Parts: sequence; structure tokens; C-alpha cells
Amino acid sequence: MILETQVGIIGAGPAGLVLAHLLQRAGIDCVVIEHRSREYVENRVRAGVLEQSTVDLLDATGVGHRMRHEGLVHEGIQIAFDGARHRIPLTDLTGRSITIYGQQEVVKDLIAARGEAGGAILFDVADVRLSAIDTDRPTITFTHDGHEKQIHCDVIAGCDGFHGVSRPSVPSGALSYFERDYQFAWLGILVDAAPSSPELIYATHRNGFALHSMRSGSITRLYLQVPPDDRLEDWSDDRIWSELRTRLPTNDGFTLNDGPILDRSIAEMRGFVAEPMQYGRLFLAGDAAHVVPATGAKGMNLAVSDVSALSEALVEFFRTGQTAGLDGYSRRCLKRVWRVQEFSWYMSSLLHNLPGDNEFGHRLQRAELEWLVTNESAARSLAQNYVGTPFS
Ligand code: FAD
Ligand code: PHB
Repeated sequence: MILETQVGIIGAGPAGLVLAHLLQRAGIDCVVIEHRSREYVENRVRAGVLEQSTVDLLDATGVGHRMRHEGLVHEGIQIAFDGARHRIPLTDLTGRSITIYGQQEVVKDLIAARGEAGGAILFDVADVRLSAIDTDRPTITFTHDGHEKQIHCDVIAGCDGFHGVSRPSVPSGALSYFERDYQFAWLGILVDAAPSSPELIYATHRNGFALHSMRSGSITRLYLQVPPDDRLEDWSDDRIWSELRTRLPTNDGFTLNDGPILDRSIAEMRGFVAEPMQYGRLFLAGDAAHVVPATGAKGMNLAVSDVSALSEALVEFFRTGQTAGLDGYSRRCLKRVWRVQEFSWYMSSLLHNLPGDNEFGHRLQRAELEWLVTNESAARSLAQNYVGTPFS
């Protein structure tokens, strides 16, 4: 069976779904394929912090209703070290805010919107292969419902995440890879308990980093820095809570609410960039092209920024035949990608126990933290990066 379309989109994460949504609104035909089930992608617990530009884009394109209702607008974050908490007043410093709204909620809203618009998403596809990507009629071959199918299209958008097939389909040598292994991971838990603070707390401690976040007024999200090869079996509930209670508390009366753990996972922290983000008629977007450590809360926002740029370039291409936007896509995105890599590296280095670091390194971290919480320019710089710049 052959499906003819303008854009074949591989992956129904934030990148693929936002792209499909923007293209559909512009009257450009696309087909999305996803190798997991709908239930799986709608329940996969991941990011939670939306930059204002992400919020504005979702809102302006008609998928922000539930986010506006259920999302939590935050105007500050807290940094904890040496037993004290310090607030970075994001909105006072930048005029912008962030919104706490789970990635899987964004995914649910986009899947629902695509359904209402009559657009297809093929879930549970397998054995996805790309061919003829250096021609003007590339093809995606896959199995779905027990049948082999093909998508013939003008452009393929590789939105299939870090472990997807799009990037490895580019002939070797055509892309350059830049990588940093941070040598630590995050153990994340979702907890049925009210948040213990109205704002996010980024805490640094001799035992390692910890983060207090949330998803709603009754659901808490917590993270611990752990060694990269630790497995979930190494972390009993008691050990997790004991470590959180060691790393998070401050001497201002903070107490950590606990409750049943609803979800748990371990994610390695890495920085990765593939350049350029294009080969022939294949365009990479989101985690398929780049990964940042989660400390800056940027991965999903970067994915949305990429596809915002890609959709503009595709609209120009399909309306006028001009390729200037597509030709400049990678250059345009990579500017933001490297800014975000630098910020994510800064936040990670500032807050984690860095493997191999000695007392000199700890004292440098303290000096930087002191500077950050006493110097308004330093705090403003962090705040500007954290809330993010408008999508360009
Ligand atoms: P993905 O979400 O990975 O989506 C790719 C999709 O492609 C998946 O659905 C996958 O199943 C599918 N796929 C893969 N292979 C194939 C194939 N062969 N065929 C078809 N489909 C395929 N980012 C933030 O902005 N803020 C945060 O607060 C934040 N916190 C995070 C916390 C953690 C613990 C982690 C792990 C990540 C966090 N991130 C955060 C990062 C964010 O989750 C990712 O950057 C984001 O999911 C990237 O979206 P994407 O659409 O590019 O990729
Ligand atoms: C989250 O709530 O999942 C979260 C918050 C801030 C981060 C990373 C993840 O930096």
C-alpha cells in the first residue's frame, strides 16, 4: 500500500506532533508514523517546563486551552545550597514566565487536535526504513497492521528522538557529531503528593544534585543525581526518600511531602549535536538532531523551536517552490541549539557533583553559586536563558 503525501513525519513526540499541527493549519498534507502505541506516548513521563515561547505557540495555534487551565505559571525558581534557599525571580528579571505542564499532556492535546482535524497518525508501526532521501521523492517503508506500507513524499521530517532511525539513515560521513557524556544520570519519580514548595527547587549537596518539581497541586516530580550505570533495582523506595531528605532540606523549615511513587525512571545526561540537521530531503528536528542534559529544562522547548522554523520553511517551499528557508533551516536552528547546550552545560556544572572533581572544583561551584544569588546581572543572565528567548 502506498500513501502519497507532502511531508512524511517519523515520530509522534513533541517535535513530530507540533510539526504535523502547524502543517495541517497551513494546509500542507502530512502523515505521522509512530512505533509506540498511542497509550504509551500519552503516558510517557518526561519534561515538565514549558518556555513562554512554547506556551505562546501552542496557545496561538489553538491547542493551549487545557494548558492554560491546568498548567501552573511560575515566576521564579529556587536554588538551594549550604542549607539555604535563594529565589531567582524570573519574571522580575525578564518580564517572562515558565509554565509547568507535563510533556505527555502536550502530547495528548496535540493527538486530540490532529484527530479532530481528520489527520492521520499511524501508531504501532515497525521496521521503519528511509530511502531515496537524496532525491525529490523520498520514501518511508514500514509495517503496520501486518502489512508493508510506503509513504512517498516531498520531504521527510525525522522527529524520532535520539534512538530513532532517521539520523542513522544518513550516509556515514555526511553529518558531524559532537558529544559530551556528563557521566551522571537522573533518577526521576512521580509522586502522589502535594508539592512541598510552590516553586521548583534546584538543590546542590555533597551527595549530589536533587530537584523538586511538580505536575499539579497534588502531584510532585522529584529527581536525584545518580551514577550513570545505576539501575532502578539499586534504588528501593526507602533509599530514594532517604537521599531526597538528605539533599533537599534547607534550614527554613522545608519538609518534603512523600506519597506513593506512581512512575520511576533513570535517564542518562548527555549533550549531543548532529550537524547539519539536514541531508537531502530529510530534515532532523528535536532529539533526533540534538540532546541536552535536563538541568536547563530545554529539550522539549528546543524540539518545538526546531519545528516552528521547519514549518515556516516548508510553507514557503510548498507555496512558492523557494528553498531558501529549507536551505537555511539547519543554520537557523543550530544557533539556538548551541546557546541551549551552553546553558544546559552551565546549569549542570553548577549544580551536580562532577565525577573526578576535587575540593578545588567544589569551591569554584560555591563561588559561582554565591555570585549568582548576590549579583543581579548574574541572576538575570540565568533567568533570560531559563525562560528562553522568543523563537526566531
Ligand atoms: P521524543 O519525545 O523522543 O519523540 C520521538 C518519538 O519518535 C517517540 O514517540 C518515539 O517512540 C518515536 N520513534 C522512535 N523511533 C521511531 C521509529 N523508528 N519509527 C517511528 N517512531 C519512532 N525538556 C524540556 O523542555 N523541559 C524539561 O523539563 C525536560 N525534562 C526532562 C526530564 C527527563 C527525565 C528527560 C529524560 C527529558 C527531559 N526533557 C525536558 C527533554 C524532552 O523530554 C525531550 O527533549 C523531548 O521529548 C524531545 O522531543 P522529540 O519529539 O524530539 O523526541
Ligand atoms: C520536570 O519537572 O520534569 C523538570 C523540571 C526542571 C528540569 C527538568 C525537569 O530542569
